[in-house]
Amino acid sequence: MTTPSTRRTTIAIAISTAGLLSFELAIVSPKAQTTTTSTALAFGGGSVAKDPGPRAVVTGPPAAIDGLDSDQLEYFKGGLDEFSEVESVTDGLGPRMNLDSCEGCHRHPTVGGSSPAENPQFDFATKDSSTDKVPSFITKDGPVREARFVRNADGSPDGGVHALFTLTNRGEATGCIIEQPDFATAVANHNVIFRIPTPTFGAGLMEAIPDAAILANAAGNSPAKSALGIRGRANFQVSGRTISGQTNNNGNDGTVARFGWKAQNKSLLLFSGEAYNVEMGISNELFQTERDETESCQYASVPNDHTNMSATEPFDALSAAEKFAIFMRFLAPPTPSSKTPGGKPSIDSGRSLFNSTGCALCHTPSMQTGNASVPALANKTVNLFSDLLIHDMGVGLSDGVSQGQAGPREFRTAPLWGLGQRLFFLHDGRTSDLIAAIRAHRSMFSEANDVVSNFNTLSEKSKQDLLNFLRSL
Ligand code: HEC
Ligand code: HEC
Repeated sequence: MTTPSTRRTTIAIAISTAGLLSFELAIVSPKAQTTTTSTALAFGGGSVAKDPGPRAVVTGPPAAIDGLDSDQLEYFKGGLDEFSEVESVTDGLGPRMNLDSCEGCHRHPTVGGSSPAENPQFDFATKDSSTDKVPSFITKDGPVREARFVRNADGSPDGGVHALFTLTNRGEATGCIIEQPDFATAVANHNVIFRIPTPTFGAGLMEAIPDAAILANAAGNSPAKSALGIRGRANFQVSGRTISGQTNNNGNDGTVARFGWKAQNKSLLLFSGEAYNVEMGISNELFQTERDETESCQYASVPNDHTNMSATEPFDALSAAEKFAIFMRFLAPPTPSSKTPGGKPSIDSGRSLFNSTGCALCHTPSMQTGNASVPALANKTVNLFSDLLIHDMGVGLSDGVSQGQAGPREFRTAPLWGLGQRLFFLHDGRTSDLIAAIRAHRSMFSEANDVVSNFNTLSEKSKQDLLNFLRSL
């Protein structure tokens, strides 16, 4: 067993209104973060439960949600092409970026998903004769990662994404000379945290769940939840300051945000605009300003991506950000298996153990969408295995970053649909082993502690059923 080695540092952060807030931050050593082996302990004789590993993938293009009409399907296909497109310097890529396509990070088990087995960022560092260095936390067989700094140099909270790569000496970008952030120092000072890509299958259904359904589910099962110490709250859009800096922009309508590891973003369109600028450095109509305005590094007009008002076809008029959002909105949810791994009786037993141990109190098996202008999204059951709430996950998972209402230790209950084929788990991709992911739910202050205790007391056979169920999703 290789457990990520955990070092704890106590960090004091000055918050202007609240005085001095102190919290413990667990920093996981990046070296030990690609665990793949099972972590089960032997309880006497008999076989020991272990993660059956990812289910086989049948390669092919992603499917659209059932019930789209032919026009909508055309938009889905066009959106898919845009999502897969590799962007160049003259499209506005950079000056700083984490990669050059949406698909690069969102591609397993097919386009729209999460991190692939081989991290494309490793080779991207030196693509087109670039002289960028590969940061220590990016490895060829590790997960795709974006990096956020916890604090600014003056000790104030940062939390923003610091892009890994630059246009320096890269292909057509002649004359652009900028430095990569000093990741080595940030790693040494425990000042950098990681996020891996979340999959976007079924994202349009998640977008169409009314706030009322999320809040009613939050209020449901309250005796069972309070008996186990589970609280959870919605990440209402208040500040949404996900990008570095002190001004508190991004005004708010007071509705429930739901996308991203901390449920920090309201909609697929907003996430598309933000990802285009943050991950690829392509400014757009939602995020108009270049994140790095160094004059010698600009090769396209701003915003780089925009509506095409001379288009003759309606689809061609849309900006790329809108096309990405449409693609993800129409992307089919993952298809679970009824008998792999372990056979139907084991999976069925695992499903009821998932409920009886209390996992389902956060990982809500299903919610309903409401009225939606696209009939294929209206009044549908969404088997997402998440309550879309943020929970205190304790010091062991804390990343020291606040987003909107979500504090350093709080994360959105990760939707578990598609888990059966996913390769890396938890917000920073610290493990590939389901048992390690479950055990990581337990640490000081975590709302999941009692549920993990319930899991730990299950027989090895029951644990195996539960793991088989998870890998069937
Ligand atoms: C360098 C890798 C990378 C690239 C390129 C990238 N993403 Fe992501 N994506 C991420 C990461 C990391 C997250 C999780 C961010 C977080 O919550 O902090 C994410 C999350 C998302 C989500 C949230 C889904 C959910 O339910 O939580 C959406 C939507 C998304 N990305 C869309 C896009 C689009 C559209 C593009 C192209 C413009 C894109 N991404 C490009 C890494 C990437
Ligand atoms: C208090 C709410 C809560 C309970 C109870 C809970 N979880 Fe979670 N779960 C979360 C949150 C929040 C995350 C995301 C944490 C992170 O990434 O730091 C998560 C992440 C996961 C992941 C990783 C998913 C991914 O996409 O990386 C798995 C697997 C998982 N939970 C399984 C379980 C199982 C099995 C149980 C029951 C034994 C359980 N959880 C109980 C809230 C909960």
